[in-house]
Amino acid sequence: MVSKGVDLGAVEAFADGAVQRVEAGGRGLVVVRHGDVFYVLRDICPHQGARLSDGQVTGQVAECGLGGEAVLERDGEILVCPWHGWQFDLCTGRSLVDGEKNRVRSYPVRIAAGRVLLELD
Ligand code: FES
Repeated sequence: MVSKGVDLGAVEAFADGAVQRVEAGGRGLVVVRHGDVFYVLRDICPHQGARLSDGQVTGQVAECGLGGEAVLERDGEILVCPWHGWQFDLCTGRSLVDGEKNRVRSYPVRIAAGRVLLELD
């Protein structure tokens, strides 16, 4: 049986690259659209509780040698907390530093009939 999912809104309501807070199932959530991909995380930073929906989306600077050119990888897939700059992988909710311990709950999302549907358990 396919669950109905919780309707977060029309696909067009989420601008590409924007960070938006929504309420669903009694939870505050942060939604980030990256092209046709949607990411949904709990809207609370595990460090000191900031709303991640006040943060910014960026990428990850690739390692390079001294004097080398800095290259941004995974642009649009990293969310930065607005208070102290912890960075979270939008795909997994894990912090880029000690991601096993420092993580935000992430939720699966699917698109159906032009709506963004969240799978809550
Ligand atoms: S509250 Fe998010 S990094 Fe401190």
